[in-house]
Amino acid sequence: MNVMAGYAGKTVLVTGGLGFLGSNLVHALVASGATVRVLDALLEPYGANRHNLAGIEDSVRLDVADVRDARAVEAAVTGVDVVFHIAAQTSHIDSMTDPFTDLDINCRGTLVLLQAVRKAPCRVVYAGTRGQYGRVVHQPVDERHPLQPTDMYGVHKNTAEQQCFLWGRVHGFPVVSLRLNNTYGPRHQMKHGRYGILNWFIRLAMADLPIPVYEPGTQLRDYNYVDDATTAFLLCGIREEAIGEIFNLGSGQPVCITDLVDAIVAAAEGGTRRMVAWPAERAQIETGDYVADFSHITRTLGWKPTVPLHEGLQRTVAFYREYADQYFGADLPLPPATNHPSQTMETR
Ligand SMILES: NC(=O)c1ccc[n+]([C@@H]2O[C@H](COP(=O)([O-])OP(=O)(O)OC[C@H]3O[C@@H](n4cnc5c(N)ncnc54)[C@H](O)[C@@H]3O)[C@@H](O)[C@H]2O)c1
Repeated sequence: MNVMAGYAGKTVLVTGGLGFLGSNLVHALVASGATVRVLDALLEPYGANRHNLAGIEDSVRLDVADVRDARAVEAAVTGVDVVFHIAAQTSHIDSMTDPFTDLDINCRGTLVLLQAVRKAPCRVVYAGTRGQYGRVVHQPVDERHPLQPTDMYGVHKNTAEQQCFLWGRVHGFPVVSLRLNNTYGPRHQMKHGRYGILNWFIRLAMADLPIPVYEPGTQLRDYNYVDDATTAFLLCGIREEAIGEIFNLGSGQPVCITDLVDAIVAAAEGGTRRMVAWPAERAQIETGDYVADFSHITRTLGWKPTVPLHEGLQRTVAFYREYADQYFGADLPLPPATNHPSQTMETR
């Protein structure tokens, strides 16, 4: 899957490039030799962190701007070969308590971007989500599964995806949608658990705290390590066969929540599993077991997951041991001292 070579000489824009998925992609794009622009509004409480681009700051043009700001977006898009549209409001819960902000960023923001691409056509790779499927009616979930979201986030992500394909068809630019799985790994925000549980569970385990599991903890989930998601983005941005397609990602190794927590506790050498009742706000947006069918992207682009869960967890814990001060808020204790070599580095 050597796609990096295809980016040499290309100019790319990553919206949301200071966040988790965006910044990991930006690191890969810089390494590929692409000219990289980032547009990110650094809005609280989303996942942006300037440290996410540590070491490559001088190789990236960073526009601190909002995707809803047409002038800034036009300036960022002009002259670009590929836009990876990753910026979003990503909280399922917040989309139910503040649906207008979700609508504004995820739908209007996408349309502002598409209007800019209409004037300066380029390929658009949209960051979709498994949340677009909502309540699961058959397993494994392929791209033809019904779209019946359980929250406004899923509704708006569906709308934004359709905006991309419609404007691409009408105005003649190529579009690809990558419906991401739950993804974990380095450069995710670790200050709260509103944007995905896996990284938050790692945070709790590293602080040697109880990890709450909604009873009975048998729900299946399907997790990808972020490097595998990055490879999928790179393929979607460059390969001709990707154009016009929607792709699921998946791990091929679904895991129930209790086993997931046990694996996290083992990797972090801390934390304990604590069974708790479902909070009502979570129960109403629960999708049921989720197992992804990702055979379409495997057949079309040759993508396969390469990092198994236990290895991804170890890499993630090692990253946060090294950079805890850049990612952990003050409300939880920092991880206990370990013998990890990074603990002795003077750069912290
Ligand atoms: N992380 C996952 O497990 C996952 C799973 C499925 C889909 N996704 C999708 O991937 C994308 C990125 O998710 P993430 O986990 O990296 O989130 P993140 O919060 O870490 O990153 C999102 C980035 O977008 C920026 N942003 C938000 N609103 C903006 C605005 N109005 N203008 C400019 N920038 C803005 C934020 O500042 C942040 O840097 C989202 O579109 C999300 O729907 C993520």
